[in-house]
Amino acid sequence: MFEQFERLSADSILGLMAQYRADPSPIKVDLGVGVFRDSSGHTPILGSVRRAEQAVLAGQTTKSYVAAAGREEFNGAVEALVLGDAHPARRDRRARTVQAPGGCGALRVGAELIRAASRSATVHVSDPTWGNHIPLLGSGGLQLERYPYYDSAGQRLRFDAMLERLERAAQGDVVLIHACCHNPTGADLNLEQWQALSELLTRRRLVPFLDMAYQGFGENLEADAAGLRLVAERSPEALIAVSFSKNLGLYRERVGALIIIGECESRADATLSHVLQIARSIYSMPPDHGAAIAAHIWADAALRSEWVAELAAMRSRIADMRGLLAHALRGASGSDAFDFIRTQRGMFSLLGVSAQLVERLRDRHHIYMTLDSRMNLAGIMPHNAEYVAAAIAAELAG
Ligand SMILES: Cc1ncc(COP(=O)(O)O)c(C=O)c1O
Repeated sequence: MFEQFERLSADSILGLMAQYRADPSPIKVDLGVGVFRDSSGHTPILGSVRRAEQAVLAGQTTKSYVAAAGREEFNGAVEALVLGDAHPARRDRRARTVQAPGGCGALRVGAELIRAASRSATVHVSDPTWGNHIPLLGSGGLQLERYPYYDSAGQRLRFDAMLERLERAAQGDVVLIHACCHNPTGADLNLEQWQALSELLTRRRLVPFLDMAYQGFGENLEADAAGLRLVAERSPEALIAVSFSKNLGLYRERVGALIIIGECESRADATLSHVLQIARSIYSMPPDHGAAIAAHIWADAALRSEWVAELAAMRSRIADMRGLLAHALRGASGSDAFDFIRTQRGMFSLLGVSAQLVERLRDRHHIYMTLDSRMNLAGIMPHNAEYVAAAIAAELAG
């Protein structure tokens, strides 16, 4: 049976991680893999997570199954965090939430739900988008198309072109939208643009599929959800994939959720039953441990404020490193061409250079980033910003 398989090349990010690990250079810099790092290069376990984990373990009396939808208290807290307490979709009981194995699990279940509802639907994804969106959404058989999003030579959004393309999408098509801290560009819509997008989605009866993987990494928990909340208020139907890998630092515990919004209460219930059947047919039940930790933090006022402060510290470290790298690049290149790095948001920005230059940075300077020149700014430290800037400037000049 397996004879037919040729060996596949490694996933580009996983391949890059392996190359980085194998590089013996002491000056190597990892701007590749998308995890937060503190100023010593470590991806820490948050203090709030440690404390909650101890409490969870101390209070646990069984390892019996939970449910296909996961923990109820987790799901309720996720809805409040993402949509806000007073969101009309919650008030009208049109939102349903199920726990999922990470944001990827939620995206995958969402893709299966779309396929079950409408085999002919196309999902429109931003150009560029996070690499894993393509297999997560496309490998189940959904048709994908790209809408213009970002001009990496000019470092700006292509908002008019985006609207113009979506205007031509077929009724019932799905539009995948990064809720904040766009990966890989770091360029987000402003509120006015969210309003225009939301108006188009509603008028053209396109279904938004919002991907929220970095809530709290842009401005704060509330502001980062503002665009998503607006779209979810105006659109009669929506899907939202949520990941807590980054903002709780729970990457390997696989903590996420899928929120669906239906046109009315009974549609939401019927849709939920399909979501649960899909989950059951893929992984049956989501892992519990990370969700139990998250739910414990959100239910405890002291732990929750500790988490909010830790999240703010992660966000401000990244903002500081953005400023530091932009400043160092000004010094090294004598130009303000890289100032956009300072003002973009979240973990990523596109440097906007060729794949060949990315390879030279890796081969000559031990600086690792994905071939599209995506940099994880959390890989910048006070001690390596000047080095990275000098290497980039040298390669651009040479
Ligand atoms: C845009 C985006 N969506 C979703 C995810 C899902 O992450 P996870 O499955 O690790 O929760 C990520 C993680 O990198 C991401 O960048």
